[in-house]
Amino acid sequence: MQGKVAIVTGASTGIGLAVARMWVARGGFVALVARTASKLEDAARSIGASAAAFPLDVLDFAALQALPGRVEGRFGRLDVLVNNAGLNHRGEIGNFEPSQLADIVTTNLTAPIVLTRAALPHIQKGGSVIQLASIAGMVPVPGEATYSASKAGLRAFARAVAYEMEERGIHSGCVCPGPVDTGFLGDLESVPDIVLSQPMITAEDVAEGVMRCIDERVDEIALPRRSGRLATMAYLMPDFAKRIRPVLEKRGARNKQAILARRRSAS
Ligand SMILES: NC(=O)c1ccc[n+]([C@@H]2O[C@H](COP(=O)([O-])OP(=O)(O)OC[C@H]3O[C@@H](n4cnc5c(N)ncnc54)[C@H](OP(=O)(O)O)[C@@H]3O)[C@@H](O)[C@H]2O)c1
Repeated sequence: MQGKVAIVTGASTGIGLAVARMWVARGGFVALVARTASKLEDAARSIGASAAAFPLDVLDFAALQALPGRVEGRFGRLDVLVNNAGLNHRGEIGNFEPSQLADIVTTNLTAPIVLTRAALPHIQKGGSVIQLASIAGMVPVPGEATYSASKAGLRAFARAVAYEMEERGIHSGCVCPGPVDTGFLGDLESVPDIVLSQPMITAEDVAEGVMRCIDERVDEIALPRRSGRLATMAYLMPDFAKRIRPVLEKRGARNKQAILARRRSAS
C-alpha cells in the first residue's frame, strides 16, 4: 500500500471509515467520499494528512464521472477504488414507493458501475476495484428483496469486470459480509431474525477482509467464511434452504435478544 492512492465511498463512518483508516495505517493515501461534508471532513482530519474529503452523493453521476480525475489531481495517481456506500429499506416491497426501491438499486449497483467505469482508465496496472456486496447477495433475504437483488448484481458485475480487466493487470474483487456492527443495521428489532443467525462482526473485521482481497487479488471473500458457504448451499439447494430456515430463524432470534440485552446493560 505504501504511497498508493485509494478512493473509498461511504467513508465517513462504519466499514468505509475502517477501510480508509487501515489503508492509511499501511502507508497509503485515501480520498474519502460521502454526502455529509462536515462529517466527512472530520473523518479526514481524524485520519491525518494522507486523507482528503471529496463530499458528493453517489446518485450524482456527473460528480462520479469527475471524481477519479480530481483525486489524481490531488494525490498524483489512483490505485484502488472501494465502492462501499450502500442503502437498504427493510420490509415488503409493497411498503415502499417505486422511487425508494429504485434508489436502493441506483445506490448499491448503478453508482458502483458508473464509478468503476470512470475510475478504470485512471487506475494503475496492479491496482484493484473492490465492491462491498453482502451475504444477502449470496442468498436472498425476505424483507430485503431489492437490497438482495442489488448486491447479487454487484457480485456479478465484479466477476465480469475481473475477466475484462485480466489483460490490463487490474484486479476486481468483491467482499460479502454478514451482519456488521454499524449504524447501517438501524433498529435491530427490524432486522430479519435469519440475518442475525450469523455472528455479528465489526467494521475492522470487514476492513481486514478488504485488505486481504486486495493483497491476495481474490475474486470474492465472504465474512465469516462459514456463513458464505452456508449461503451458497442454501442458494443452490432451495429445498435445503427451506428445511434449515426455521432453525436459523430461531438461532437469529436468540442472538438478537442477546445483542439487545448487551446493549441495554452497556448504556
Ligand atoms: N452493516 C452491515 O450489517 C452490512 C452487512 C453487509 C454489507 N454491508 C454493506 O457495507 C457497506 C457499508 O455499510 P456500513 O455498515 O459501513 O454503513 P454505514 O455505517 O451506515 O455508513 C454508510 C456510509 O455511506 C455514506 N453514504 C450513504 N449513502 C450515500 C450516498 N448516496 N452517496 C455517498 N455516500 C453515501 C454515509 O454517509 P452520508 O450519509 O453522509 O452520505 C456513510 O459514510 C454498504 O454497502 C452495505 O450494504 C453492510
